[in-house]
Amino acid sequence: MKIILLGAPGAGKGTQAEKISEALNIPQISTGNIIREALKSGSEVGLKAKEFIESGRLVPDEVVIDIIKDRIAKDDCANGFILDGFPRTIAQAEALDSMGISIDRVLDINVADEVIASRLSGRRVCEACGSSYHIEFKKPAVDGVCDKCGGTLIQRKDDHPDTVADRLKVYHEQTEPLKEYYKNKGKLRVVEGQDSVEQTTYLTFCALED
Ligand code: AP5
Repeated sequence: MKIILLGAPGAGKGTQAEKISEALNIPQISTGNIIREALKSGSEVGLKAKEFIESGRLVPDEVVIDIIKDRIAKDDCANGFILDGFPRTIAQAEALDSMGISIDRVLDINVADEVIASRLSGRRVCEACGSSYHIEFKKPAVDGVCDKCGGTLIQRKDDHPDTVADRLKVYHEQTEPLKEYYKNKGKLRVVEGQDSVEQTTYLTFCALED
């Protein structure tokens, strides 16, 4: 199954992508994680993306489209994948179409802007493996330490309140039009994401079966 997860920053795309990936045994492809890894390694892609990601703006389409082309060509994508954070512009969606990729479902995780602020200010991520936690809603077993790899949990630079406001603005202007794009193709399902992770996961799987 080939799935796209849409939604504002902090709506819970990464959280739900992980659940779907485990249940369906298909890879979660997070362009945000790939770009952050590239930044950490100091690669050319990382250097190109740095100023954009840190200020909450979108990385240029051509950079992200190349990342996706390479990633979905890998063997582990043969039975499907979950795109978490891609496409984010109409140009990116058109590029995906022109690669001949037929998407089965597009889930839009719907969360109000006011809720987003508290989700992102409380998020902590593992410096080493990128796993995501929340100081209230998804606590690690030991404070400040990743359950999966023992790495240190830190706050993402772009989760500071000023940058979150910019990311939301970018989302409404450039990414939200994708809802209409996929609605017109009959692929869009809306998942209410305001409640607990468990409830959202339940609704996510209902939407996949619908
Ligand atoms: P990216 O990493 O994709 O960030 P994002 O879309 O802003 O999404 P987030 O990772 O912030 O949130 P999420 O929806 O995955 O929520 P999560 O599950 O973590 O992108 C970062 C940057 O990279 C972009 O700004 C851009 O610069 C660049 N980029 C990436 N892709 C690009 C593209 N295609 N084109 C151009 N540029 C691109 O949840 C958030 C928190 O809330 C967590 O702490 C979680 O535990 C908690 N939580 C989740 N669900 C619930 C719930 N139901 N109840 C309570 N808490 C919850």
